[in-house]
Amino acid sequence: MEYRFSDRMQGISGNAIREIFKLLDNPEVVSFAGGMPATDCLPVARFRQMCDRLLSSPDAPVLLQYGATEGYLPLRRRLAEFVGRCGIHGISEDNVLVVTGGQQGIDLTYKIFINPGDAVLVEDPTYLAALHIAKTYQARAIGVRSGEEGIELEDLEAKIKAEHPKIFYIVPNFSNPTGKTLSAEKRKAIAELCAAHGVMVLEDDPYRELRYSGEPLPAIKSFDKAGNCIYLFSFSKTISPAMRVGAVVAEPEVIRKLTVGKQATDVHTATLLQAVAYEFIKDDTLDQQIARSVPLYREKRDVMLEALDRCMPASFTHTRPEGGLFIWGEFDPASKISAKAKFREAVENKVAYVCGNDFFADGRGDNCVRLNFSNETAERIVLGCERLGKLFG
Ligand SMILES: Cc1ncc(COP(=O)(O)O)c(C=O)c1O
Repeated sequence: MEYRFSDRMQGISGNAIREIFKLLDNPEVVSFAGGMPATDCLPVARFRQMCDRLLSSPDAPVLLQYGATEGYLPLRRRLAEFVGRCGIHGISEDNVLVVTGGQQGIDLTYKIFINPGDAVLVEDPTYLAALHIAKTYQARAIGVRSGEEGIELEDLEAKIKAEHPKIFYIVPNFSNPTGKTLSAEKRKAIAELCAAHGVMVLEDDPYRELRYSGEPLPAIKSFDKAGNCIYLFSFSKTISPAMRVGAVVAEPEVIRKLTVGKQATDVHTATLLQAVAYEFIKDDTLDQQIARSVPLYREKRDVMLEALDRCMPASFTHTRPEGGLFIWGEFDPASKISAKAKFREAVENKVAYVCGNDFFADGRGDNCVRLNFSNETAERIVLGCERLGKLFG
C-alpha cells in the first residue's frame, strides 16, 4: 500500500528521545537521556489510597462517566487559587482548562493560533516537543538567542519585528534542556514586549516546584496586563507523568477556543485522574510530596555537578541549575567535539545522553548535550560521568 500521508507530517521524524529509549533496554547503560521523575518519588501508596477513597464514595460514578471538556470543576477552582503561588491572582475557573499533560496545552495553543507558515519564536535551545509540534502545524519555528542569563531581549525584539510571530514559547524555570532560570526583570520585560507587539507568550512551567536553591520567581503571566500570556502547568514532574494531568491558565476567551480544540482531540482529560490531582492540591499533600522529592533531587544534581567538574575535559562547560531535572553541557566549538557523532560509541560504552541539536530550531548544537540527573542513583551518576569523561577526554 502506498500511504498518502498528509503534507503536515512530511519531514517529521519521531521525537528523538522516544527513539533513544529503544536503545536503553540494557540495564548496564547509565542513562542521562530521559526526563523522568525518580522512580522512588512516585507516590504509589498515596495514589492507591486516594483512588480507593474516591471510588468508594457516592460520587464514584461521576468519576467514571463522561465529564466537561473544561475539566473537573473542583480541580479548576482550586487551580485558580493554586497559581497564586507564582503571582497569578484574581482569576476563576473560567481562566482554567484542564489538559491531558502540559504537552497537550502546547499542542492546543498552536492548534488555535497557528496557520501554516506562521512564525513561532522559541528560545535557542528549547524543549524539543515545542519544535516538533510547531512542525506538525506547519509553523516556522525561529530560535531566539539565549546567553548565560537566558533569553536575550534585544534578539527577541529584533525577531518579533522581523518575523511577526504569533507565539513566543518559553520555559522560564529550570528550562528543559538548559536548566536555566529567567530573572524577574526579564519575565516582566517579556510580558510587556510581547504585549506591545501583539504576540502571545506561551509560558510552559512544569518544573517550578522542583527548586533546590535560590528563591521562587513570579510567572511571566503575573505581569500580564494585556491578556497575551498563557500559563501551562503540569503535575507530571511532581506527582506522576503517567497521570497526564496539567492545566492551561489564560483569558476566558482563549480558554473557550482551547476548549473547542480539545473537544475534537480527546473530549476531556480522565476525570478520575483529575480527581486524584485535586486530592493532592486541596490541602498540603502535594507540598509534602514535593518536600520529600526535593532533597533527593538536590543531592543527585550536586553529585552530577561535582562528577562533571572532575571528569570532563577543559573544553566542556555546563550550567548549574537551581532546580528541575537537567544540566546542559557544551564543548568548545574549537575542540571540534561532536556529541552527536559520539552518541553510538557512548551507548556502546554504556552511557547515554541527548544530543544538543534536537533542541535547536535550526538543528545546530552537535557540540552540546542534555544530561538528566533525576532517574539514576548517585553511584550510577558518578559512574556515568566517569564514562563520559573517558569518552570525551
Ligand atoms: C518543558 C516541558 N514541557 C512540557 C512537557 C510535557 O509534560 P507533560 O507530561 O505535562 O505533558 C515536558 C516534559 O518533559 C517538558 O519538559
